[in-house]
Amino acid sequence: MEKIAAAITGVCGYVPDEIVTNDDLAKFVDTSDEWITTRTGIKERRILREGGCSDIAAAAVKGLLEKKGLDPMDIDLLIVATVTPDYPFPSTSNVVCDKLGMKNAWGYDLIAACSGFIYGLATGAQFVETGRYKKVIVVGVDKMSAILDYQDRSTCVIFGDGGGAVLLEPTSEDVGIKDFILHADGAGRQYLLQPAGGSVSPASIETVEKRMHYVKQEGKTVFKFAVTNMAEVSAQIMEKNNLTSDDVDWLVPHQANLRIIDATADRMGLPKEKVMINIQKYGNTTAGTLPLCLWDYEKQLKKGDNIILSAFGGGFTWGAVYVKWAYNS
Ligand code: UT7
Repeated sequence: MEKIAAAITGVCGYVPDEIVTNDDLAKFVDTSDEWITTRTGIKERRILREGGCSDIAAAAVKGLLEKKGLDPMDIDLLIVATVTPDYPFPSTSNVVCDKLGMKNAWGYDLIAACSGFIYGLATGAQFVETGRYKKVIVVGVDKMSAILDYQDRSTCVIFGDGGGAVLLEPTSEDVGIKDFILHADGAGRQYLLQPAGGSVSPASIETVEKRMHYVKQEGKTVFKFAVTNMAEVSAQIMEKNNLTSDDVDWLVPHQANLRIIDATADRMGLPKEKVMINIQKYGNTTAGTLPLCLWDYEKQLKKGDNIILSAFGGGFTWGAVYVKWAYNS
């Protein structure tokens, strides 16, 4: 029997219109454009004032459907990777399907923080490879401004809002999602988390007063784990698939910090020209960074390009996905 692979056959992103620059932030927290730029590479980020995560996701999915000339009823499954869902339940996937009239689709949200999109790609691909579904959409999206403490300069300068969607379809050609290596280590949960609002610490006056509904990060510790593990898993997936640095056309790294991206590219032996970078424009959009990179760079991608996506995030979660690009724009 012919082997069916899952190919990415389209991508679309969405970021809110409102731009918040480093200088804008410096007006109300003790920071500077110089500090943020040199420590992270970020110059500005987008913020959604009105609406929820589903509005960003729906805009990206709508754009994708239009681009591909698809009817909402054509979609079988919608996976939404996010840590900032509209509600604890129902899922943001349910909300997006309703907003866009995707009445034949079912779906669910997936929590893997900054690794959400690669977890989603690996998961969505299974439904296509088994022959079960023909059209699966995977979204990586976050409205980080909803959980940021704008009094905490160590976190509020890093994150932004945005996301993107890809369509997965079956193919018998030598393209598509070739391999993935995914990891998780829950022992790292204490270093990057939103402490309250779940079943351990439900919302109360105390949790609000203690600012426990915001992102907390021990930046230095997360940095150490991120820089080592993202580089290691990216090199590992190359080795496993007999790819040299010449064979790899693009690295699509999670956009958390330019220094982590550089270290990963160095470990893989890749020059800067092969690395997708848009952190300066959007900051860290958590699950949104990777599809936003694919969206920004789509026109430069060619059929057959070997692409490595890699990420590290809260959980801890991390991993890499090897994709052979399936189309010319
Ligand atoms: O996406 C999910 C995974 N997350 C990551 O991968 C993030 C990993 N971590 C990082 O990217 C970095 O640790 C940060 C960008 C978060 C912080 O950079 P850093 O170089 O590790 O700085 P630091 O936390 O060690 O802080 C250095 C100094 C401190 O001051 P003292 O103690 O040296 O006087 C901070 O208080 O910088 C200070 N600082 C700031 N100064 C100006 C922290 N945040 C700011 C700020 N503006 N926004």
